[in-house]
Amino acid sequence: MICVSVIISYLLTKHRRGTAEVAKIEQDLQRLERCANVKDIRNAHQSLKIAELESPASPLLRIFSRISEDVNAALNQKSAYNQRLVLRIVVDRLDAQLQNLTRSTEKYAPRFRPIAQSWREIIVNSVEELAKETELLQEIDNPYIIGVPLNQQLEIFIGRSSIGLRIEELILDRRRPPLLLYGQRRMGKTSLLNNLGKLLPNSIIPLFIDLQGAPSSASNNAGFLYNLARGMITSAKKQSALTLPSLTREDLEKDPFTCFDEWLDKVEEALQDNTALLSLDEFEVLDSAIAKGRFDEQDVLGMLRHLIQHRPRFKVLLAGSHTIEEYQRWASYLINVQVVHISYLKEDEARQLIKSPVKDFTLRYEPNAVERVLQLTRCHPFLVQLLCGEIVALKNEQDPSVRRLATLADVEAAVPEALSSGGFFFADIQNNQVDAAGLAILKYLAAQEEGAILNKRTILNKLPDVSENAFKLLLQRELIEEVEDGFRFQVELIRRWFAQM
Ligand SMILES: Nc1ncnc2c1ncn2[C@@H]1O[C@H](COP(=O)(O)OP(=O)(O)OP(=O)(O)O)[C@@H](O)[C@H]1O
Ligand SMILES: [Mg+2]
Repeated sequence: MICVSVIISYLLTKHRRGTAEVAKIEQDLQRLERCANVKDIRNAHQSLKIAELESPASPLLRIFSRISEDVNAALNQKSAYNQRLVLRIVVDRLDAQLQNLTRSTEKYAPRFRPIAQSWREIIVNSVEELAKETELLQEIDNPYIIGVPLNQQLEIFIGRSSIGLRIEELILDRRRPPLLLYGQRRMGKTSLLNNLGKLLPNSIIPLFIDLQGAPSSASNNAGFLYNLARGMITSAKKQSALTLPSLTREDLEKDPFTCFDEWLDKVEEALQDNTALLSLDEFEVLDSAIAKGRFDEQDVLGMLRHLIQHRPRFKVLLAGSHTIEEYQRWASYLINVQVVHISYLKEDEARQLIKSPVKDFTLRYEPNAVERVLQLTRCHPFLVQLLCGEIVALKNEQDPSVRRLATLADVEAAVPEALSSGGFFFADIQNNQVDAAGLAILKYLAAQEEGAILNKRTILNKLPDVSENAFKLLLQRELIEEVEDGFRFQVELIRRWFAQM
């Protein structure tokens, strides 16, 4: 008797819980249905309750929550141009979702389909309105993107074909050396890795892994390998529409490295005649996780060495702003590593970024204004984007009669704005890339006029405590260069920052 009443009470509780869940789903659905404009859509994710729970509607609610977050991110973009760009990506995602919902036999699909349709319409209208707004104000669309790595969808990724060719050449090298993409901060390493698919032949499948993300933050080997595999699977799908075999966390738990190795056998099969280029961005972060004892050096780097030596279908590329010599731990695992240096853009690439960063760019430059941007930035991709972005912002505040032509005076006027809005870039040099002696040298050099060269003796007279090593570090960081018998700043804009300190 007791037993029956326990069962009944259990069933009743379950039923009540089920009813409560259905009511919550209904509330969430109505919230999504009520969205009447982009503002409602951008806020919708904040009020959804069910997305974290497990129910048949949860995956769909999560997708709509994510779309709402992306619309919010789009509207947070500074320029109307970039708002439109990101909104268009959201529309593509909604189109894909609509197709899935049309095919789906899922119970909730018929409820979500009209929501997707309505959201799509609202977002498309908003894109059109944003376009009208900029046209009405005769504003120049600001296409420049500051500080975020460029993905394949952005038209503003420029050049780098010679680096693509060099990587291709090294991939074909029969000695199969591991590669190191080495370049200073913000020189465009991640952007290049994201866009490698455009630069390499189709037979090379780029697999991009951001070691700053999930892999290095895992708490054990199984977590690390799981995140690595997941990154490879996502990247193969995105860059080459290739489906790699799946690998679950549970599979890996018992004997992670053996299991991962067996998974790589299956990946090799899936690759057929193609070659996978496994690019590990920010290898320094993995090094610090190893140093902290989170992963075992022998296990992780040994696995990498094994992959390089015994799996000819795979090539490994590390990317970072340090040399292997600075990371001794890696040197013994990466024999014969070949360095691919990524530095300033070529002059014609930088000119393109200034004069026609995207199709239908409506700002024209006087020739000496273009030359001045080149001189100030030395074709540093981030600095060209930063300065040109400020020039567009400045032009948009001017009278429409002079708005469409950038002059030398405009370029000079944009410099203080660029130094201020790009403060995070310059402060990183000051705080993380040089020591006290290096900073003293930079300040002293910066106090001279543009392009000034100081010889070592003059600097040492002024700063007697500075060691030889301080010069070496500044040269290695590509902040100064040796010319004639002295030193000068490599980039004028960087000199200006240290001059105003
Ligand atoms: N090929 C390119 N064309 C146009 N702009 C570029 C290019 N590469 C980089 N940039 C600009 O430089 C910025 C920094 O790029 P990215 O984040 O790829 O550099 P990074 O070397 O990976 O930097 P970090 O050292 O911080 O990881 C981008 O936001 C973009 O403004
Ligand atoms: Mg990067």
